[in-house]
Amino acid sequence: MNEPILQMNGVTRRYETGGEFFSRPTVTTAVDDVSLTVAAGEVCAIVGESGSGKSTLARLAAGFDSPDAGQVLFRGTPYAKPGSAPWRRERAVVQFVFQNPSSALDPRATIASQIGEMLTTHERCDAATRQLRIDEILDRVGLGGMGRRLPQQMSGGQLQRAVLARALIVRPELLICDEAVSALDVSVQAQILNLLMSLKDEFGLTMIFITHDLGVARHVGDRIAVMQKGRIVENRRTGYLFESPRHAYTRTLLAAIPAATPAARRAWDAAAAKAAA
Ligand SMILES: Nc1ncnc2c1ncn2[C@@H]1O[C@H](COP(=O)(O)OP(=O)(O)OP(=O)(O)O)[C@@H](O)[C@H]1O
Ligand SMILES: [Mg+2]
Repeated sequence: MNEPILQMNGVTRRYETGGEFFSRPTVTTAVDDVSLTVAAGEVCAIVGESGSGKSTLARLAAGFDSPDAGQVLFRGTPYAKPGSAPWRRERAVVQFVFQNPSSALDPRATIASQIGEMLTTHERCDAATRQLRIDEILDRVGLGGMGRRLPQQMSGGQLQRAVLARALIVRPELLICDEAVSALDVSVQAQILNLLMSLKDEFGLTMIFITHDLGVARHVGDRIAVMQKGRIVENRRTGYLFESPRHAYTRTLLAAIPAATPAARRAWDAAAAKAAA
């Protein structure tokens, strides 16, 4: 195994809600004693039903949020306190891509200016270099010549490419995708996933890829961690997980999700191959 980029050791995150007037607050343990190691260059897919704690885990993994117990190490070092100056400096190394690209982008600013703004925040470079870097990354995600467009002038797939460009222009080491393709049509999903995989190799990215779709997880993940009620119940290399799921919950997931059947897998592979052609 390559050296670990991310290590989570016994990480717990609780949320307290309610508690106004005379009612007692309710405590939800969103992430419960989770340990997870992601090696350099690896794609770790995280699957689990709604509310199982995937997004909470992602925020902890990115250092946007701090655990109540346990430890999160990025390249062997804990993240700085969220919001502090050192924390802002280290932000470029971990980037996030969420489900809904149109809400991640400013509707009033061109794609190029939003990508460029990211560069200005994290790096110092002159105007010519900046333009070059913007054009380069737009080309790379398949949006060459579209930099002057506003978000409303682009399709969902194009917007997600723009969000990817904005994340990658600062050359992060870890990319966390939280349901990044869930809102897209299956054929567009396959295109974006293929793009992600080629960018991953080119940029030497490590990825955490959150999805409720086991078919998508199988397509992108070197390993799959299955979450249930805040815990990781199974975490294994993708092939092994599909061949011989150990945990009862994983078996239920595999049985319930059509993408786990051989026919659905073939359909997925065909769509992916077509998108790659
Ligand atoms: N800011 C918050 N305040 C209170 N409770 C929260 C907060 N964020 C998440 N939770 C609770 O923590 C649990 C895990 O939520 P989380 O968003 O991590 O799940 P998820 O697996 O990402 O779900 P989904 O697939 O629907 O996105 C849920 O019970 C949720 O209600
Ligand atoms: Mg979520």
